[in-house]
Amino acid sequence: MHQVTFGLIGGGTVGGGVYQALQRNGALMASRLGLGLRVAGIAVRDLKKARAATLPTALLTTDWRTLVNDPAVQVVVELMGGTTTAKEVVLTALKLGKPVVTANKALLSAHGPELFATAAKHGANLYYEASVAGGIPVIKVLRESLVGNRVTSLHGIVNGTCNYILTRMKLEGAEFAHVLADAQRLGYAEAEPSLDVDGHDAAHKTGILASLAHGFWVKPGQIHTEGIRSISKLDIQFAARLGYTIKLLGVVKQLTGKKPKRSDGCPPIQVAVYPALVPDTHVLASVNYAFNAISVRGDVVGDTLFYGRGAGAEPTASSVLSDLADAALDLKHGSHNRVPCFVAHSGDGCVVPMDEVVSRYYVRLTVADQPGVFARIANVLAKAKIGISSIIQPEGHAGETVPVILMIHDAPNAAMKRALGQIAKLSAVKDTPVMIRVEPFE
Ligand code: NAP
Ligand code: HSE
Repeated sequence: MHQVTFGLIGGGTVGGGVYQALQRNGALMASRLGLGLRVAGIAVRDLKKARAATLPTALLTTDWRTLVNDPAVQVVVELMGGTTTAKEVVLTALKLGKPVVTANKALLSAHGPELFATAAKHGANLYYEASVAGGIPVIKVLRESLVGNRVTSLHGIVNGTCNYILTRMKLEGAEFAHVLADAQRLGYAEAEPSLDVDGHDAAHKTGILASLAHGFWVKPGQIHTEGIRSISKLDIQFAARLGYTIKLLGVVKQLTGKKPKRSDGCPPIQVAVYPALVPDTHVLASVNYAFNAISVRGDVVGDTLFYGRGAGAEPTASSVLSDLADAALDLKHGSHNRVPCFVAHSGDGCVVPMDEVVSRYYVRLTVADQPGVFARIANVLAKAKIGISSIIQPEGHAGETVPVILMIHDAPNAAMKRALGQIAKLSAVKDTPVMIRVEPFE
C-alpha cells in the first residue's frame, strides 16, 4: 500500500493524542484512504518527561530540525505551540516544499499572511483544521462546504476553557480559580492560561474564521477582545433571572447599516470577542463545559450550527488526522493546492471599530442604598440619549450597598463607555460598573 510518512513536532496533549488515535484507527484510515500514514519521529523538548500518552522511546528526539529535514518525512505536523520556534518549524518545512499541518492558532493569528505566502511560493499547502474549535471541522466548512455563500454572521463559542469555567460557575456555583485549575488538569487550557481567560485564544480563532469568511486577513489588533475574569457569580445569577446565560462569544457580523467601502458592495464587518448575555432560548446558551459551537449564517444556506468538543487530546487529534489525510491524499494525487490554505479574494475589507458598534447591555452597579441614587444615574444616561429598558434592585438595608441591574436599549459602545465613566464617578456608586453586551442574534 502507498505510504505517506510524517514527522510529529510536539508529543504533548495533542501530539500524544494524535499518536494514540493513529495506533487505534490507523488501519481503518488506511482502508478508507487507500494509503497508510507512518510516523517517522516525534520531537519533544524533554525525553525523560512523564507523559499522559505512551510514546515509543525509539521515535522520540529533541532535534526537530533533523526530523523536518529528513528526506523521508513528507508531511510535517506542528503541535508544539508558541509563535517563535513553531514559526521556524513551519517555515522550514514549507520552504522544503513539505505540506504542514498545524493546530497553532496563535501562530496563524500572528503570522498567517507570511505563512500562507510561503506556502503558495513553495507549492506546499498549510492545513489548520485543529486550530479552531478542536474537533469541529469548521475550517473545512468555511473553506469548502459554504464556498457558495456570503457569510452574513458567525457566532462562536470557541474557547473550551472559558466555556468550561462559565458552565461550572453557573451550574455548580463554583469559584473561577478552582475551575480554571480543573481545566488545566484536563488539558483544555493553553500553557499560558491567560491566553484563554483573557479572550486572546478566542480572538486568534475568531480572526481566522473572520478572515476565511470574508476573504481579507483580519489583523489581531482589529479584534476587540474581552475575557471572562470580570464575570462574577452574581452576574451569572442575575443573567439567569433575566432569561440569559453568559457565554464568551466570538462575533463576526456584517453591519448592514454601515456604508459599503468595498468594490463588491459588501458592508463592513464587526469582529470581536466578549462575554455576552445569550438568550436561554438560543441554542448557544445550552452549549456546556468544554464543548464549542459555531453558528454560521450564509446568504444561500441560511442558519447552520456546528457543535462538538472544542479542546482536549482526542477531539483535537481527530481534526489533525483529518488534515493529515487531506495532506496525504493531495500528495498522492499531486493536487497540493486543491483547496488553497487562504486566498485574499475581496481586497481590503473593513473592520468597524468597536466604539461604533451598537449593542444592548446588561449593567451592574454597586450603589449606596439611599434616596435619589436612581435619579442621578438615570440623569447621566438620559443626557447621553441612552434608554433603560428595565431595572432590578433586590431589597437592601438603608445605608448598605446594593447591586442595581440596568438593562439598556441599543446604544453605541463609545457612548455607553462614556456614560458609565461618569456614573462610576457618582459618590453613591461604590464599585467599578460591570457592563456585558446582550447578543440579539438577529
Ligand atoms: P503541550 O501539551 O504543551 O505540548 C507541546 C509539545 O511540544 C510537548 O511535547 C513539548 O515537549 C513539545 N515542544 C515544545 N517545545 C519544543 C521544542 N523546542 N522542541 C521540541 N519539542 C518541543 O501543548 P498542546 O496542548 O499539545 O498544544 C499544542 C498545540 O495545539 C498548541 O498550538 C495549542 O494551541 C494547540 N491546540 C491545543 C488544544 C488542546 O486542547 N490542548 C486544542 C487545539 C489546539 P515536552 O513534552 O518534552 O515538553
Ligand atoms: N485552550 C484552548 C481552549 C484549546 O480552551 O479552547 C483548544 O483550542
